Amino acid sequence: MKWICLFLCCLSTVLIGQEVKLTVCPEHTADIVLFSTSDNEKIAQCLEKIGVQFEQWEANQPLNKDPTHDEILNAYQNDVERIKDKGGFAQVDVVSIRSDNPKKEVFRQKFLKEHLHTTDEVRFFVEGFGIFYNHKDKKVLRVRCEKGDLISIPANYTHWFDMTDDPYFTAIRFFTDEEGWVAHFTDDDIADKFISIGGQ
Ligand SMILES: [Fe+2]
Repeated sequence: MKWICLFLCCLSTVLIGQEVKLTVCPEHTADIVLFSTSDNEKIAQCLEKIGVQFEQWEANQPLNKDPTHDEILNAYQNDVERIKDKGGFAQVDVVSIRSDNPKKEVFRQKFLKEHLHTTDEVRFFVEGFGIFYNHKDKKVLRVRCEKGDLISIPANYTHWFDMTDDPYFTAIRFFTDEEGWVAHFTDDDIADKFISIGGQ
């Protein structure tokens, strides 16, 4: 009965055109779904159990259609400062990648192999979406981060990021030093089993 309910839940989500935000699978296959939800509160609770922070922000002020990076940082200034103080982040920047970017596949591959960092990886999605895969306790927790979502992955925690083959996102990034994004790859090909396409 549990699997039938889960199937119907997933089917209804697909039929109304909404992507599932959290999917938990065993590490050996993406074909088995142990748990899934698009409820932000349930996602936060699930991720908190494994040490990953997930929360939603609202802009302090309305953003223009094509805001500059400074306008984005100003709009979320209160939350940005809170995260900087909490995590000891010295550097903050804004990154945007669109499907017409000629280097989109290069950028995608850069983040697509399993890796870890010696500092927390923190991202806030201003628009669009990106998919983080967290590998923990023989499970893979796939989190589709969308506009308004913050995710904070602890240091030394294996994960990877997929912007899909049709990328569309703007995100605020936090760094502890000027080196920026430095990854230590595990050389595990696990990400190949969980590849994302299009808006999925
Ligand atoms: Fe990373």
